Amino acid sequence: MRIFILSIFIGCMAFGCYYDNEEYLFPELPGDCDTTSVSYTADIQPILSAFCYACHSNLNAASFGNNIKLEDFTDVAEQSSVILSTLKHEQGVSPMPKGGSQLIDCKLITFEAWINQGKLDN
Ligand code: HEC
Repeated sequence: MRIFILSIFIGCMAFGCYYDNEEYLFPELPGDCDTTSVSYTADIQPILSAFCYACHSNLNAASFGNNIKLEDFTDVAEQSSVILSTLKHEQGVSPMPKGGSQLIDCKLITFEAWINQGKLDN
């Protein structure tokens, strides 16, 4: 009988833990996706550099990127909303990165957070 009660108790604790689980409460955010203060230099530029500069650097834009430049801060800030649409693969824009698969959620969320935090040049 004692073991029976104990196992119910343990079962409830495990169940309780499940509902307090961060991933359960915030399923769309990977555990290590921290967007509290996004930095252009540390967070945004590395994404663009890795996935976009092959076609949208100042040098490559004319040949490969339809002359859309995403290397200078002002160019990125000005085009930020259409960039976000292309990253999210929204209707009405070309999905980016062209020819590649969609970026992982954390990168999309980070880019969106940078816009919402005022597109800082930080
Ligand atoms: C392989 C080359 C290539 C890569 C890599 C690439 N693009 Fe593009 N991008 C293009 C081309 C070419 C266009 C012109 C539209 C088209 O042909 O689809 C374009 C168009 C765009 C546009 C304008 C879309 C519109 O419909 O107005 C944006 C914004 C953009 N790219 C952002 C990005 C971002 C952000 C990345 C990286 C995540 C990226 N691109 C990666 C080649 C590329």
